[in-house]
Amino acid sequence: MNGRRPRGIHPGKFHVTGGPQDQIWLWGERGDLVALSIADSQDRGAILFQTCAGCHSTGVTSGGLAPSLFRIIGRKMAVRNDFVYSDSFRKLTVEWTEERLDKFLQNPNAFVPGTAMNTITITDPEERQAIIDYLRDLW
Ligand code: HEC
Repeated sequence: MNGRRPRGIHPGKFHVTGGPQDQIWLWGERGDLVALSIADSQDRGAILFQTCAGCHSTGVTSGGLAPSLFRIIGRKMAVRNDFVYSDSFRKLTVEWTEERLDKFLQNPNAFVPGTAMNTITITDPEERQAIIDYLRDLW
């Protein structure tokens, strides 16, 4: 917080209570309420990425099951030379943008018919965004 206090919050003692799901509430002596979210979107993305981590690494090498997703946004599709892509994937020539990644994760086989990544669909748009944020910030 850079030593500055949020507008409208008075210094003094706060009591910690449980809030609604995923929140902690701090009640101030003067009736101020500060709600803290336990998981920010990065943490959420990291947790959701566990769905992907069974196959994908985010390191410098790929591993045998799937290409590494390190610096995936802005990278051309299917260009890693330490992974053997499907024929469908090898035909792709454009780069991964957030929008394309969003479409792909919603339904990989509709975005790239015949892809080897055909068992995963992330239907919730917020979950897709959290995963994309996580991948974008992996630098
Ligand atoms: C069951 C294993 C598996 C899981 C789980 C999986 N993937 Fe994949 N993924 C693959 C495979 C295999 C490929 C290569 C596809 C091909 O060659 O057709 C791939 C390709 C990709 C690519 C393209 C990479 C490139 O180099 O162009 C992205 C992006 C991707 N996956 C993201 C994800 C994300 C995000 C998740 C989690 C929500 C996920 N994948 C879950 C197996 C998986």
